[in-house]
Amino acid sequence: MKRFAVFASGRGSNLDAIIRSCQKGRIAHGKLALVFSDKPQALALQKAKKAGIATVCIEPSAFSSREDFDKAVLKVLGSYRIDWIVLAGYMRLLSGHFIKAYPNRIINIHPALLPSFKGVAGIKDAFDAGVKISGVTVHFVVEEMDAGPIIMQEPVRILATDTMESFAKRLHHKEHGLYSKAIETVLKGAYRISGRKVILS
Ligand code: GRF
Repeated sequence: MKRFAVFASGRGSNLDAIIRSCQKGRIAHGKLALVFSDKPQALALQKAKKAGIATVCIEPSAFSSREDFDKAVLKVLGSYRIDWIVLAGYMRLLSGHFIKAYPNRIINIHPALLPSFKGVAGIKDAFDAGVKISGVTVHFVVEEMDAGPIIMQEPVRILATDTMESFAKRLHHKEHGLYSKAIETVLKGAYRISGRKVILS
């Protein structure tokens, strides 16, 4: 059984959905073995503890460089025998060294239809741009931000009556369903990568 870690810096609503999917057997090809955070106050850590999942928090400020921080995190992952990393609102860029240690074994969820609206403000940027359809993307992580091969996407309409909050609420709801589906697919190995494309089987 593959062992995966969820990395989260914030409130952890995606983590919540992943935990529920593990409990309900929607994620069955892997075990959520660790929740890692760079922020001691992250709600995600509390949620993980409540669910009985191991947690580790390491603060970057204790290290003089990103490489040293990443090395410390990799050491933790090694001790928990982690095979896959699932980023769920992890607000730090991973170094090339880190990504090379888990080649095509790190996935991320982005709150827009990539390659549109990359970056930390995907929801607001799409809303402000006035697009009628945005959505959610799950992708492999490569060094360039939000640029890795796309695993799954789902559209979310922006209605004329939407505020950014009401749109964000529907978008997060869509994230919660899609991420578990994508996690189970990759853990099961039901895909192959061909160039920039991920072909699901
Ligand atoms: C999500 O919108 C996700 O797409 C983005 O960060 C947010 C995390 O939210 N990468 P949560 O902490 O899972 O509630």
